[in-house]
Amino acid sequence: MQKIKLAPSILAADFARLGEQVTEAITAGAEHIHIDVMDGHFVPNITIGPLIVKALRPLASAATRLDVHLMIENPDRYIAAFAQAGADIITVHVEAATHLHRVVQAIREQGVRPGVTLNPATPLSALEEILPDVDLALIMSVNPGFGSQSYIPGSTDKIRRLREMLDDLGSTADLEVDGGVKTYNVAEVAAAGANVIVAGSAIFGGPGTITENIRAFREALEK
Ligand code: DX5
Ligand code: ZN
Repeated sequence: MQKIKLAPSILAADFARLGEQVTEAITAGAEHIHIDVMDGHFVPNITIGPLIVKALRPLASAATRLDVHLMIENPDRYIAAFAQAGADIITVHVEAATHLHRVVQAIREQGVRPGVTLNPATPLSALEEILPDVDLALIMSVNPGFGSQSYIPGSTDKIRRLREMLDDLGSTADLEVDGGVKTYNVAEVAAAGANVIVAGSAIFGGPGTITENIRAFREALEK
């Protein structure tokens, strides 16, 4: 099985110490830093924008991917801004992009890896036509908008079916899972076919230090 990559979500970080905490997560081996962008329209919460990506870029080596999850309406308006700020991956919701193929093309034209994602109630069939064009497919295992929510159990079967779709395509796209993933369910999520794991509260708000919480995920995945 390919090495599972960890993507700590900064939504759960202490924003008064963001640089210090992101640096600790990177030093502890996180392969992605997951940046949750929310506009208060597509989801009932407002978070951050390109300036945070720009601020974090110098902290991340070329090997650490700034993984931007756009939970915003009409994401096409902001692709260039996030690309210029330093995003390595930009993931858009199928529910938010009327012209999804054009948005995915626009992300790639900026030299950034395109990702697509879908809400828990959106069927995988919504990805069928675009899957060959993306480098990442993200399964939301919670309803987007907030951290610290519970993993939706039906997500595991959805992950399994998406893995089958990617394998049938011969796709090398990453399968990322986002929401409610903890040390007690991460092995199930990986076994279903995810190879990138987003975790916010379990890493930045977990029982130990950020380093200890990341180590606990690695140990849970090795079992
Ligand atoms: C929710 C975000 C998730 C969230 C994950 O809309 O997309 O990335 O921050 O947080 P946890 O791991 O606490 O569920
Ligand atoms: Zn996210």
